[in-house]
Amino acid sequence: MGQPTNLYFTLLFLPLSLCWGQSSHPSCDRCDLRLSCNCSYGGFTRVPTVTDRALTLDLSFNNITVVNVDDLRGHMQLRALSLHGNRLAVIHPSALDSLWSLEELDLSDNQLTAVNHKWFSKLGALQELNLLNNPYSCLGSSPVFQRLVRLRRLGFGGPALEEVKRRDLSGVTQLEELTVHANNLMRYESGALADVWPLGRVTLSLHGPFLTNVALASALLDDVSYPETPIVLENLLLIANQSVQPFRATSRRRVRHITFRNLSMSDEAVVDFLVVMDGVPLTFLSVDGVILTGSGRWEKASWSDHKSIDEFFVRNVVALNVFSFVSFLQLQFLLHYPRKVSVINSQVFVMPCATSKLLVNLQYLDLSDNLLTDMTLVETLCDGNSTLKDLRVLNISGNALKSLSTVSWLVVKLSKLTHLDISRNAYSSMPQGCSWPSTLRYLNISRAKLTTITPCLPATLEVLDLSNNDLKGFILALPALRELHLSGNKFLRLPPGWLFPSLQTLTIQSNTLNMFGRSDLQSYRRLQSLQVGQNKFVCSCDFVAFFQSSIKGGGDVHLTDGEESYVCDSPLYRQGEPVGRVSLSIVECHRVLFVSVSCGVALFVLILVCVLLWRLHAFWYLKMMWAWLKAKHSSRRRRRHRDRADSEALLSFDAFVSYSERDASWVENFLVPELEEPRDNGEDSVNPRSPRPLTLCLHKRDFLPGHWIVDNIMSAMERSRRTVFILSENFVQSDWCRYELDFSHFWLFDGNAGGNAAILIMLEPLSKDDIPKRFCKLRKLMSSTTYLEWPQEEERTGEFWRSLRNALREEDEDD
Ligand SMILES: *[C@@H]1O[C@H](CO)[C@@H](O)[C@H](O)[C@H]1NC(C)=O
Ligand SMILES: *[C@@H]1O[C@H](CO)[C@@H](O)[C@H](O)[C@H]1NC(C)=O
Ligand SMILES: *[C@@H]1O[C@H](CO)[C@@H](O)[C@H](O)[C@H]1NC(C)=O
Ligand SMILES: *[C@@H]1O[C@H](CO)[C@@H](O)[C@H](O)[C@H]1NC(C)=O
Ligand SMILES: *[C@@H]1O[C@H](CO)[C@@H](O)[C@H](O)[C@H]1NC(C)=O
Repeated sequence: MGQPTNLYFTLLFLPLSLCWGQSSHPSCDRCDLRLSCNCSYGGFTRVPTVTDRALTLDLSFNNITVVNVDDLRGHMQLRALSLHGNRLAVIHPSALDSLWSLEELDLSDNQLTAVNHKWFSKLGALQELNLLNNPYSCLGSSPVFQRLVRLRRLGFGGPALEEVKRRDLSGVTQLEELTVHANNLMRYESGALADVWPLGRVTLSLHGPFLTNVALASALLDDVSYPETPIVLENLLLIANQSVQPFRATSRRRVRHITFRNLSMSDEAVVDFLVVMDGVPLTFLSVDGVILTGSGRWEKASWSDHKSIDEFFVRNVVALNVFSFVSFLQLQFLLHYPRKVSVINSQVFVMPCATSKLLVNLQYLDLSDNLLTDMTLVETLCDGNSTLKDLRVLNISGNALKSLSTVSWLVVKLSKLTHLDISRNAYSSMPQGCSWPSTLRYLNISRAKLTTITPCLPATLEVLDLSNNDLKGFILALPALRELHLSGNKFLRLPPGWLFPSLQTLTIQSNTLNMFGRSDLQSYRRLQSLQVGQNKFVCSCDFVAFFQSSIKGGGDVHLTDGEESYVCDSPLYRQGEPVGRVSLSIVECHRVLFVSVSCGVALFVLILVCVLLWRLHAFWYLKMMWAWLKAKHSSRRRRRHRDRADSEALLSFDAFVSYSERDASWVENFLVPELEEPRDNGEDSVNPRSPRPLTLCLHKRDFLPGHWIVDNIMSAMERSRRTVFILSENFVQSDWCRYELDFSHFWLFDGNAGGNAAILIMLEPLSKDDIPKRFCKLRKLMSSTTYLEWPQEEERTGEFWRSLRNALREEDEDD
């Protein structure tokens, strides 16, 4: 009865919970242009949402505990997914179903207690699967990898793995890489790994079985041992005769490559191992990380046959009782054969000359990261007496060597030496001359303390690495040089290219270069690849333009270190900007052009403005203003002057007549005779007083020659009681008249004269609208002052003169 209800509720709430689930999803938008999303170390507790188009998704090192059914839905294009280093305990059986394109899946270092075959049922494209270090004890009841037909790299197992059954690996046919962590394996069904063939590199971690269950270890090793399959064994503790017995399997199957990592081994076990491997065509034996115990007594194995051994690679050796170790001389039976020997980071301070003499086939010797000094190197290379006659490569990088001349005379007799790596030593100076084998092609003196270059460097070099020194310049011709590395020095510019006619590659990053240009590069005739990033670039126009054109493939030289390593250091406002993205402004880069164009434009605008001003009579206004200011100034001066003298004496005219030159005939023929020489006529009988002659000031007659005209006008006005303006079309058109008018106006409103100082006479009918707008003063005056009109009819002239005379005399009578 309850079941339908449950179903009902499920149906009702399922969509709801889905919505809720989705909305609470965190999101991660750390995707780059290649749609690779790096969401590691994001603190996510569940799968974040990322774009559906993502190609790779890195969710490593988060706190994700569960992958829900639709957490990864829609990621049809995803190629690689990493959930490494989470706390993943639950993956929904269908959670990975939509990842059809997935090629790489990393579920390592999680809390998965079981592996479910349903996870992988739709992952037909998967090539790489990593299930390492999860706490499952077996791979499940049904074959897990059955559907993974393309699988090429597989890792499984962990501290809890107890059992590997035959069916576990069914479906897996060939692998390039197989990693099994089975330190605590209890049960192994023989043949479980035997069907995988061809099999590439196999890495096995079998600490427990080697110690406690030799049969199991043997069975497992036997299943993966093939002559062409390199075997890597990790975390072994080989002490007694018993613990090396599993190697009988590899010996039987004639395995050629064996590598040990993180090994703990006694000298006895070494002997046992060598005995077990007697006659096996082992060519490569590598030990990376080994703790050796015992005193190095291995002569007991000297009868064993290891003629095929070609390479010994030993790194990170710690010999617990280094001082009780007898000598490597007892390994004589081994040292005759190898062509390559590397003993790296193993506290070697000397290889005795006697040992060197044993290495008769040696072509490659790597003693890097040890404790060699100049003195012990002399012993190691037997005083330079051509011991290692076949030596081609000598690597003594990372030791405590100081003298370049020592190393040079020590190797001079190595007549086949082509590579010499003496980097990371303490060389601080270069002698003027050195002798080198004529075969030397490669020399690495990087990370030393060299400050100068001398002809010590051999002319035969093809590759020279001098990076991370204190060099400032390079003046030495090296005609054969193909590769030159000068990064991390103090170069200010590229070295001249004619020194290196064969140079193809030049790296000179992280120096103090400011810029480089086309001409610099043209001096290198064969240069193809150049790396100049991380310098202090001055982003000048030339440099930026050159750089941007060379990025776009403008030249033969390719900047192989990527555009983003080229960043501007100055000017300050460009600091930090990638050179390739600087956009140049014309102002900065074409200054002459810019200045001439802008001058042209300015000139044009100026002319335009002048034309405009001329059209708007602005010059007239300016002239006016100037005249006015000047007049005002001199008038003030005159006034001061006058205040001291008798002011009355200055008023010497009754009226100043302002008129246009063209109205002169009227003034001279009518006005002057009428006012200055009055006739007796009938009208006077009406007026008891006969008209007194008036004195007029006319510019023609009364102006002082040689004075500025405006001054003249001003002083005329000042010395006159009234100003009479003869208005006509002509007047309006004459500039001088306008000054007079304006000055009069100023005089009027300056309060120096009475209210009616100006008298307007209209010679012809003139309406206010006939006067241009800019003569606002005249217009104002016309509306504020009543004016006299020169009558057109003859008989009304008498009335006109009377009115005029009255107006001129008004003030006298007021006085
Ligand atoms: C995961 O969670 C644990 C405790 O819940 C915390 O200590 C740890 O820092 C978290 N890790 C990350 C990567 O957020
Ligand atoms: C090295 O191997 C030992 C066991 O021999 C193991 O306890 C140790 O964790 C290993 N170290 C590493 C770094 O794997
Ligand atoms: C090591 O053990 C094998 C078989 O277990 C034995 O044949 C051999 O003699 C032993 N070797 C030594 C040196 O004890
Ligand atoms: C010499 O050894 C160092 C460090 O092991 C390595 O980086 C370098 O490539 C080696 N040089 C040669 C020429 O193999
Ligand atoms: C020169 O040696 C350094 C340090 O050992 C190494 O990093 C560098 O790759 C070497 N240079 C060349 C050109 O091999």
